[in-house]
Amino acid sequence: MRSDANIAGPMADPVPGPRTAEFAGGPIAVPPGFGDGVSRETLPPMDDTPIGRAAQLAVEALGRAGEGLPRPAQTRVMVVANQKGGVGKTTTTVNLAASLALHGARVLVVDLDPQGNASTALGIDHHAEVPSIYDVLVESKPLSDVVMPVPDVEGLFCAPATIDLAGAEIELVSLVARESRLQRAIEAYEQPLDYVLIDCPPSLGLLTVNALVAGAEVVIPIQCEYYALEGLGQLLKNVELVRAHLNPKLHVSTILLTMYDGRTRLASQVAEEVRTHFGKEVLRTSIPRSVRISEAPSYGQTVLTYDPGSSGALSYLEAAREMALRGVEASVAVEYDPQGEYTQHDEQNPHSMSEGIQ
Ligand SMILES: Nc1ncnc2c1ncn2[C@@H]1O[C@H](COP(=O)(O)OP(=O)(O)OP(=O)(O)O)[C@@H](O)[C@H]1O
Ligand SMILES: [Mg+2]
Repeated sequence: MRSDANIAGPMADPVPGPRTAEFAGGPIAVPPGFGDGVSRETLPPMDDTPIGRAAQLAVEALGRAGEGLPRPAQTRVMVVANQKGGVGKTTTTVNLAASLALHGARVLVVDLDPQGNASTALGIDHHAEVPSIYDVLVESKPLSDVVMPVPDVEGLFCAPATIDLAGAEIELVSLVARESRLQRAIEAYEQPLDYVLIDCPPSLGLLTVNALVAGAEVVIPIQCEYYALEGLGQLLKNVELVRAHLNPKLHVSTILLTMYDGRTRLASQVAEEVRTHFGKEVLRTSIPRSVRISEAPSYGQTVLTYDPGSSGALSYLEAAREMALRGVEASVAVEYDPQGEYTQHDEQNPHSMSEGIQ
């Protein structure tokens, strides 16, 4: 198996040196000899190379994982959506979910894509016979009948998708309350949860609408490539429509830059454009392009368990930490609002986000 450290092509991890400045923890001191065998990506001996520093940060992040993060007062239902294909929705869903669970949260991943990629990445069987989210949406089965614990990550659960879901877009059309079937199922789920992360398919059909009705927060992964923002306007308009007619809580809370290659000017230009346009919704942490991240699903794992010391694992842990802390800040801001009104960003002009975006 090759090491990212030896790859010079476009799939290599970016040199993590400059990127480390983005991490909240900053460089840390590691005891002598510490870190041996931590990462397949970051081979010992630990030295002052950029890769070595990334591993040190990863070790620190993982060391902090057991400490836990503040848990949200109420379940945060987050919809990971972007109708553009292959931008990192599934990768982001499963790795953020695993990161949050490693921080001590109870997390449910709802796989809402007939491809079942999130189920695969979490090591959950999803052949045609398995009780799945299709049964919940179309057959009105309780969510608890299909939820499975994810092997190796305590507190992480998955409602799998099977290929049946491909027909659900059409079957849902004739059903009562077709847009709110997932919302009802999640509301009726009795197990305590801190987070529900919904992995959407690359379309804006009824499955994605069900997710947008069920959630309060939209998480948009944006791939740092040319055309990154193309089509985003349509997603933002759909979010606004669902908010106006079906789910007043809905807002875009998080934008995550994915597959960031710090060595290319294009990636930094796209990142700058996204940050200029969206501002505070964009997480400070961006996810590097990483071979380890792309390899993990073929082993039925997230990068957090596949290679916990890799720069990909580190960045998802850090992104999850940012997300968790922001959620707490937001709820505190609401709690102490002197007007007694809900004054988060989602109460601002709903058209502001999609202005200027195609
Ligand atoms: N940070 C990353 N570094 C390298 N490869 C990545 C990274 N993130 C995602 N990938 C790879 O890119 C491909 C697309 O990612 P993913 O499946 O998460 O996208 P998606 O938006 O869910 O796609 P779809 O629209 O088909 O559902 C996958 O092969 C995945 O392994
Ligand atoms: Mg996907």
